[in-house]
Amino acid sequence: MSTRPGTPAPSAPARGKLPLTDLAEMKRRGEKIVMVTAYDAPGARLADAAGIELILVGDTAAMVMLGHDSTLPVTVDELLFLTRAVTRASRRPLVVGDLPFGSYQVSDEDAVRNAIRFVKEAGADVVKLEGAGPSVARAAAIVGAGIPVMGHIGLTPQSATMLGGLKAQGRTAEKAARLRSDALALEAAGCFALVLEAVPAPVAARITADLTIPTIGIGAGPACDGQVLVFHDLLGLYEGRAPRFVKQYADIAGEIRRALEAYATDVRSGAFPAEQHTYSMPAEELARFEGALEPATL
Ligand code: KIV
Repeated sequence: MSTRPGTPAPSAPARGKLPLTDLAEMKRRGEKIVMVTAYDAPGARLADAAGIELILVGDTAAMVMLGHDSTLPVTVDELLFLTRAVTRASRRPLVVGDLPFGSYQVSDEDAVRNAIRFVKEAGADVVKLEGAGPSVARAAAIVGAGIPVMGHIGLTPQSATMLGGLKAQGRTAEKAARLRSDALALEAAGCFALVLEAVPAPVAARITADLTIPTIGIGAGPACDGQVLVFHDLLGLYEGRAPRFVKQYADIAGEIRRALEAYATDVRSGAFPAEQHTYSMPAEELARFEGALEPATL
């Protein structure tokens, strides 16, 4: 049994869920949209308190939470488990459930069924899927079922092998034009926003200008309507190689390492636990306890 007190209240004032339509209005007003990934309740609570609009429970969980070396292995059930923790702790931000590899590639029916699981079983507000081509029909099918969809083009890690690795996309005129037509197709399919990953800044700027829905950039330059970063990358919590587009705002891994080393040193030296970490009992109860004991038998 734990004596730990309950979940701390968020430090931000309680507000209702951000209306989805506010995102398009923010684009129109030129206000930037902030998105971050989170995979657990503490991360979600902190993102909410920071006033962030969108929390993505990304399939990057495979790498930053589950120790895989790509996003491919994470399953729907694993992401549902993480998404539930995030939705329990988020009030204002819209929570984006990320459809993992294999959950929407086979058919529109599969895509709709799995998107419904994210909403119904995990409380996600919206879902995200990667790619254009067949993903355009998948997005339309999910929107048709009443679930808002965020698209994701450019570097789409679920198809990194086909793209020749985790590298920038749209760097020739033909490929840039293809990205633009994919973006327009996803908008026409009903997507409410579009992630642009690892795309040259002028290409992302042109796509952003040509769409009415917001673009959320990651390695796509400053003209996007919003930006997203992976929680562990921006906090310095992921110790693998971070992509070029990451700006690290803290060294949390360094802090954790220092704290764990200090803890181990204190335990080994006897400095922890000290008086203030220890429970006492009335002296007479202790004496009764000691007096009533049978001799220990070996
Ligand atoms: O899964 C994820 O974290 C993502 C972001 C990098 C956009 O798709």
